[in-house]
Order: sequence, then C-alpha cells, then structure tokens
Amino acid sequence: MTAPSVRALSSFVLPLGLLTGLLAGPAQAQTQKLDVPYVPTPQPVVAHMLEMADVGPDDYVIDLGSGDGRIAIAAVKDRGAKAAYGIDLNPERIREATQNAEAAGVADKVTFEQGDLFKKDIADADVLTMYLLSTVNMRLRPVILDTLKPGTRVVSHAFNMEDWEPDATAVIGGSLVYLWVVPAKVTGKWTIEADGQTYQVELSQNFQQVTGSVDGQPERLSGRLEGSELHFTLNDQLYVGRVEGDSIQAVPAEGAVSAWIARRG
Ligand SMILES: C[S@@+](CC[C@H](N)C(=O)[O-])C[C@H]1O[C@@H](n2cnc3c(N)ncnc32)[C@H](O)[C@@H]1O
Repeated sequence: MTAPSVRALSSFVLPLGLLTGLLAGPAQAQTQKLDVPYVPTPQPVVAHMLEMADVGPDDYVIDLGSGDGRIAIAAVKDRGAKAAYGIDLNPERIREATQNAEAAGVADKVTFEQGDLFKKDIADADVLTMYLLSTVNMRLRPVILDTLKPGTRVVSHAFNMEDWEPDATAVIGGSLVYLWVVPAKVTGKWTIEADGQTYQVELSQNFQQVTGSVDGQPERLSGRLEGSELHFTLNDQLYVGRVEGDSIQAVPAEGAVSAWIARRG
C-alpha cells in the first residue's frame, strides 16, 4: 500500500477502503479485528510529527498502533527521546518493528508490545502519537483528556478530534498533521488576588478555551490553556499563570500582571 495523500485519505475512511485494509491482515492467527488498517506514515511526516511535538531527551513517547515502529524508533534515534513504546494488534507488525529497532541500534530504549491499544495505560506518555482514524481518535479522546498529564503533546497524522481544536496544524507533502496539548482542568470557582484586589471568578472550560464570570458578571474573563499555562484577560489586562493543583501561580510574561495568585474556591 503506498503512502496516502490528503485526497487518498478520504478513501481511507470509506468502508470499502477500510474493508480492503482490514482483510489484508497477516497470516498469523489474530482473533481480534484491526480497528485501523496498516498504512505507514511517510518518513518526512514522521519527522515533522516529532518536531511539532518538540520531542527531546525528557520525553517518553507512545505510538498507538505502531506498525513497523518507525515513529517510536525515530523518536529515540533522531530526536533523542529517553524511551519510546509502540503497541500493535498485529503480531507481524510487532516482529517487524522489533527487528527495525535492533537494526537502528535503539532496541535498548524502544519497546514494542502486541496488544489492543484501547487497553493500554497511556498515562505515562509525555508525547502520544497516532495514525488511526477519526472514530478511533474519538474513542481515545476522553482517555487522553482524563488520564494524560496536562502539557502532554498529542500528535495525529491525518485524523482530527472533531470539536477539540488542534493547537497547531501542518501540511507535509500532502499529509495533514495535528498537534494538541492536553489542557489542565480549571472549571469551577476561583479567588484571584491581584494588585490588592480580590475577584471571585467562575471558570468554564471547553478543551483549551476558558471563559469566566467575575464577581457574578458573566463573560468578563476569556483565555486559553497551553497545557498547565493559563493566559487570560481581565479588565483589559493580561494574566499568565501556571495551574498547580488548587492554585494558579503568576508566570512572568511581557505586558502581563506580575503579582497575582488564584486559589480554588
Ligand atoms: C495506519 S497504521 C499506522 C502505523 C504507524 N503508527 C505509522 O504511523 O506508520 C495503524 C496501525 O494500527 C494497528 N491497529 C489497528 N487496530 C489496533 C488495535 N485495536 N490495537 C493496536 N493496534 C491496532 C494496525 O495493525 C496498524 O499497524
């Protein structure tokens, strides 16, 4: 199967296209059906996915549906990730990926496991990569939002997550790539102390978008989360802070209020 362009990917989601891929499975016994057929991500797209996620030495990278292992292997070999893990339902893919990791000299840092990606605990990931389908992404979305640490980067080749807007999008050689940064959870009541003033704030959150009432007045605050970092404007002033459990600590930023703190409740 050749690498798909954006146009070709539209057929990827058609039942017939899927059926073809799903039937072209391995000779080995595999009782569970694949949720996604095997189509490798072109290497330049792999490189861009890892660049968009800014993969580096502190990162543990998980690729769900890891195919021949190219994303996990490149994460360690080309980006210096501390470790990477790939899971695939198809044992033939796991054999290939394991051989490829050995050939690339990264077998000590890259692990492949045969299994169902929906059963994998992904909470330890610093970066999660996927080339799955929109339907599969949508099944994973609540797990991503509820179990991954705020700030975890999620990169998907070709398929989005509906109304969770990406933080960045790129087109590489006709392939779409999406990046999301898992937002902290800030919904609820907060007390902000700034410049000798106290504000009672109630925040609502729609993924990374944040709005809030202030002292009972609706929509006085609007902002955005980048992982744990919250940027918002209140009374035409910029605030930047880091969400740390039940408090938000001011982060120095140009043009932003310098001394403030928010506490839940
Ligand atoms: C489109 S390929 C992507 C391969 C690789 N991540 C890449 O980008 O080159 C999807 C992979 O998911 C695997 N897969 C499908 N359903 C799965 C499931 N439920 N659990 C684990 N892997 C699955 C397939 O065997 C296939 O290798």
